[in-house]
Amino acid sequence: MTTNTRASLCRFGYLLLLVFLADWSTTAKGWAQASHVSASEVLCEYRKDPIGIDALHPRLSWVLTASQQSEKQTAYEILVASSKEALAENQADIWETGKVISAQSIQIPFQGKSLQSGTRYYWKVRVWDKEGRATDFSEPGYWEMGLLSASDWQGDWMGYPPNWNGRGLYFHYAFSLDREILSARAYIAGLGYYELHINGQRIGDHVLDPGMSSYEKRIFYSTYDVTNELKSGANAIGVVVGNGWYGFPKLRMQVNVTFKDHTQKSFYTAGMNATSTAWQVTASPIMQNSVYGGEIYDARMEKKGWDQPVSLPAPADRTEAWFYAVPVSPPGGVLVAQIAEPIKIMQTLVPKTVSTPSSGIYVFDTGQNLAGWAELLYLRGAAGTKITMKFAETLRPDGTVDQRNLRTATATDAYTLSGDGEEKWEPRFTYHGFRYVQVEGFPGIPTADNIRIKVVRSSLDDAGSFFSSNELVNRIQKMVWWTEASNLYSIPTDCPQRDERMGWMNDLTVRLEESLYNFNGARFYTQFADDVQDSQDANGSITDTVPWQYGSKPADPVDESYMLIGWLLYQNYGDTEVIKEHYDSFRAWVEYLRSRSPSNLINYGYYGDWSSPEAFSQPGGSAESKDTPLLFMSQGYYFYALQLLSRMASVIDKPEDAKHYSELAEQARKAFNDKYWDGRKGGYATNNQASNSFGFYLNTVPAGEEARLVQNLERDVEQHNWHLTTGNLATKYLLEMLSEHGHANTAFRIATQTTYPGWGYMLNNDATTLWERWELLSGEGMNSHNHPMMGSVSSYFYKYLAGINSDPSVPGFKHSIIHPYIVDGLDWVKATHHTMYGDIAINWDRKEKKVNLHVVIPVNTTATVFVPSAERTRVLVDGKSTNTTSGIHFLRMEAGSQVFEVDSGSYDFTSAL
Ligand code: BGC
Repeated sequence: MTTNTRASLCRFGYLLLLVFLADWSTTAKGWAQASHVSASEVLCEYRKDPIGIDALHPRLSWVLTASQQSEKQTAYEILVASSKEALAENQADIWETGKVISAQSIQIPFQGKSLQSGTRYYWKVRVWDKEGRATDFSEPGYWEMGLLSASDWQGDWMGYPPNWNGRGLYFHYAFSLDREILSARAYIAGLGYYELHINGQRIGDHVLDPGMSSYEKRIFYSTYDVTNELKSGANAIGVVVGNGWYGFPKLRMQVNVTFKDHTQKSFYTAGMNATSTAWQVTASPIMQNSVYGGEIYDARMEKKGWDQPVSLPAPADRTEAWFYAVPVSPPGGVLVAQIAEPIKIMQTLVPKTVSTPSSGIYVFDTGQNLAGWAELLYLRGAAGTKITMKFAETLRPDGTVDQRNLRTATATDAYTLSGDGEEKWEPRFTYHGFRYVQVEGFPGIPTADNIRIKVVRSSLDDAGSFFSSNELVNRIQKMVWWTEASNLYSIPTDCPQRDERMGWMNDLTVRLEESLYNFNGARFYTQFADDVQDSQDANGSITDTVPWQYGSKPADPVDESYMLIGWLLYQNYGDTEVIKEHYDSFRAWVEYLRSRSPSNLINYGYYGDWSSPEAFSQPGGSAESKDTPLLFMSQGYYFYALQLLSRMASVIDKPEDAKHYSELAEQARKAFNDKYWDGRKGGYATNNQASNSFGFYLNTVPAGEEARLVQNLERDVEQHNWHLTTGNLATKYLLEMLSEHGHANTAFRIATQTTYPGWGYMLNNDATTLWERWELLSGEGMNSHNHPMMGSVSSYFYKYLAGINSDPSVPGFKHSIIHPYIVDGLDWVKATHHTMYGDIAINWDRKEKKVNLHVVIPVNTTATVFVPSAERTRVLVDGKSTNTTSGIHFLRMEAGSQVFEVDSGSYDFTSAL
């Protein structure tokens, strides 16, 4: 019995018990009414019990579980109430849907009474199963609104006298509460980054908050429940604020307190006036702080009581004194609730080794390239002793850190001891991309006990897992996971180490799918789509980096990623909201591209298929392709943009636009083929791997020419000794197209090469995250060692080796397409993908010609399953004929597989190749 089967049996047993108990409790109503289905994991806006959201029609979802195969929902009923007690009594005073005949169990927009700022709503749901039997109500969930309108925010943005440039700032506010507290919320936006304390306690676990944005357009605020941190009597708020991406500190916050007698009071950042007491400000011991540069902290400058309800001491040095904070010019953007998961410390690691390249210099190796920082622990030394930490991805031959590829990012943190007993320290307002930490100035000899590595990122959940019999494949998957994880920093960054860390839109075009197979990106990319919109120009053009800092404006036409966010969030989560919200901006971007396309041929491009192996790139270290024409890539993406816009217009019921853009797409396709299809050779553009695989992916190949194109592709790969010649974009298409068109073994061979260029080559050269270039480079210049743009090999693992795909015509994994490719060099694959309906699980193994395929399809969904098998051989399911098993029927034989349509449930197929 496989572990999977055992796990399912356990789950089955547990469910049986639940069902038995449920049946028992409903006996009075009669056995016939008991359902085998139950609703759990009630989510609102993709979150469990969120507070501080500002969606006016928050979307509700739930997961159904069942003890039987072939289960689905036929109706649902949602109750929303203003109190827990009312909900328990089924008094739905806010919204009652009644019984809605519908299979929809995700993304149901709230349509009840108008929602009020700062108010909590309680809800539950029950469903009817396929036999029309009602389940019990789910456990209750809740959501709580944030501050919905600008007028809910009182007070001002506060700042400081200008002579503290570079310092982090302490803000302090003392106030008193004279009644007992029922509840209290803090709403806060501290730019660039803040850390909130109340009465000496750090509040929450967000770090590097809020997420980066175009601050003149939009600023994210966070909401904290501070009921337990406040008390009757004297209280104090302390906030330390750093520069972050904004550049200098500014603070806006508000605490709303509800007392047990139901009266309310708000405390907020404001200049002194009749109703508020003073906010005070001073320079903190953070002497310098910068995202790229690092943080310098002098513990001798600590200011006692900065976050306590005490009177603040006057220091001897006037510049270090507390001053009244003053209102400052607002950053400009509207305050909106942060949608994406906050950045958090996700893991703490112990360094693997320490070396001493020269006296007093200690180099710690974490064994893993990552993003975050280091904490110094158990420090004892004289006041004024300064410890520095320099961060780097690689070492110089002499064993010291090599920071040359960080360009102007000095990536150095420093701590000066106060000399007061045992000390510890970690930075707050910087982060680094590194594997090595070089410690200098340490009092004594540091050991691994003196340093902890903090792995930091936006706290997205994993979206699944992938393991196989091939250790190299597993190591590649791990390498991509770490790279992706290092680059989720409220925006999808290109790299975490050098003076860049920007949301490069060209990389994201292919990275997005990989990112969504590895992490649940619904919230993160919803927020990022807003960021892109904020960077859009009046002429419709978007920017190469988002929020825009660098790179071209208008963006390269290969920056398809903006539209792909709309499309892939729809595919992965059934989300139509992003398409609706962004449709006009998508269209404006497409119209901009059109304005640059006389005769349907787009006339510009900058990066194209960026960063192919050196021999295929422009000379002199350029990352631009020598062989794949820039305008060919631009034109392909122009066609793709028109096509995506047309599809998204259909999704949100704009049939005229759908028709219009599909006609324009057809014209762009024709222009693409007229210019780039080479009928003599049977290939696109230069007939290389990138051109042919991209054309194939776009599905533009002239009818009847597919076979020649595939032959050319395969021949090219063979000529390059089964290695790729592609850059950041076409690498994805190469692996996918070879797999889909009869050359799955070739794709796998490319993916598992251990010689240059390839992922195995990176691993053989000590990589633990993906490089920016296929070459092993160090020193100055363009050579990040933690760059996700080459990571599409991981989505290839999930989509082709595990075979887990959403069905574009029934999105959100309501209907999945399970199509594993069994390739030479793999004996088994075990993968899961977490969908809004529950987990899809795949587990296949083969012994000689025999294949076992275990598939789990979530309740309320169906799937088309490709069971790899030779023609006219018998496929069994759970040891029985597929003809006699309910919930499954044979569709057709296709490309080496027998294809079945299956209902929800778990199936064990056996077949012969
Ligand atoms: C970024 C890349 C991006 C490129 C485009 C680089 O600096 O790091 O990820 O693709 O610029 O020019």
